Amino acid sequence: MQTILVTGCNGLLGQKLVVQLSQMKNIKLIATSRSVNKLFGIKNTIFKLLDITNKTELNYIIKLYKPSTIINAAAITNVDFCEDNKDECWKVNVEALNYLSQISNELNIHLIHISTDFIFDGLSGNYSEDDNPNPVSYYGLAKLEGEKVIQSNSNKWTIIRTVLVYGLSKNRSRSNIVLWVKQSLENNKPINVVNDQFRTPTLVEDLANACVYAAVNEKEGIYHVSGKDFMSIYEIAIATADFFGLDKSLISTISSISLNQNARRPPRTGFNINKAISELDFHPHSFIEGLQIVSEQFAMIS
Ligand SMILES: NC(=O)c1ccc[n+]([C@@H]2O[C@H](COP(=O)([O-])OP(=O)(O)OC[C@H]3O[C@@H](n4cnc5c(N)ncnc54)[C@H](OP(=O)(O)O)[C@@H]3O)[C@@H](O)[C@H]2O)c1
Repeated sequence: MQTILVTGCNGLLGQKLVVQLSQMKNIKLIATSRSVNKLFGIKNTIFKLLDITNKTELNYIIKLYKPSTIINAAAITNVDFCEDNKDECWKVNVEALNYLSQISNELNIHLIHISTDFIFDGLSGNYSEDDNPNPVSYYGLAKLEGEKVIQSNSNKWTIIRTVLVYGLSKNRSRSNIVLWVKQSLENNKPINVVNDQFRTPTLVEDLANACVYAAVNEKEGIYHVSGKDFMSIYEIAIATADFFGLDKSLISTISSISLNQNARRPPRTGFNINKAISELDFHPHSFIEGLQIVSEQFAMIS
């Protein structure tokens, strides 16, 4: 029996990890979140409150359950919020990783951490694991520092970097590109979408699969995990509108500079996922297949 503890289980990735892991035999699952658990009806899972910036709470919960693996899905992920709230961003995305590394080393725990394409400057794209990071936002900088903390302080670690994650989850305050486009167009709301940023959008279930594989098979090191379709955000919006039969004339293009967001975004990211394909048995869905899965999930809840 392997005991796995997930942090940030109310988040998009955290929720999917809990759903997948709770259905697996030979896994004892401890799902933790900083606010009240938003997942209901999940069996075979112990839910606990845990703010990863609270070292005492963290040590207490981890020593209580002694997991062999921790998957850290907790983070401050709002890029503009991080630009304006640097202390809070640093506490969660960097400082807390010191606590997680320390306790993981003490108890010989495999620590799996999630990072981002925003550690790159986005000038070239199709990034591999050994390409040089050069973040252009505070979020990217903090996530890169978080990676460094894990790499220098942890004995047994995995960093899974990912790109523009989309999917459907329960009772979440944060949206994602697919849900935002779908909801806006359904409400006849015109939207401006950038045509000068390029990504390999990632279905959250695919990302969760890779994390679970790394956990169960004790894979260590850095992995790039994303979808396989390289698209502009505008193309993603149009494909979403087409798929759901929505009015794409409501979508206008805009340049990143005209959007005037607080934080800069890297223009071209996207990952080379060959290492994950060969070592994590990673086989992501195409973007259209991902939309089909999201649409089936909508059908189930309506
Ligand atoms: N989403 C993307 O497009 C994307 C792209 C690249 C990389 N990533 C990375 O993927 C990982 C998962 O992202 P996600 O999309 O699942 O993010 P998310 O939906 O924003 O979930 C993050 C979760 O972390 C929780 N959290 C924040 N501070 C915490 C704390 N102090 N203690 C415990 N939990 C805390 C949040 O709690 P509340 O629910 O209470 O706010 C939230 O539920 C992150 O490391 C992110 O950097 C995401």
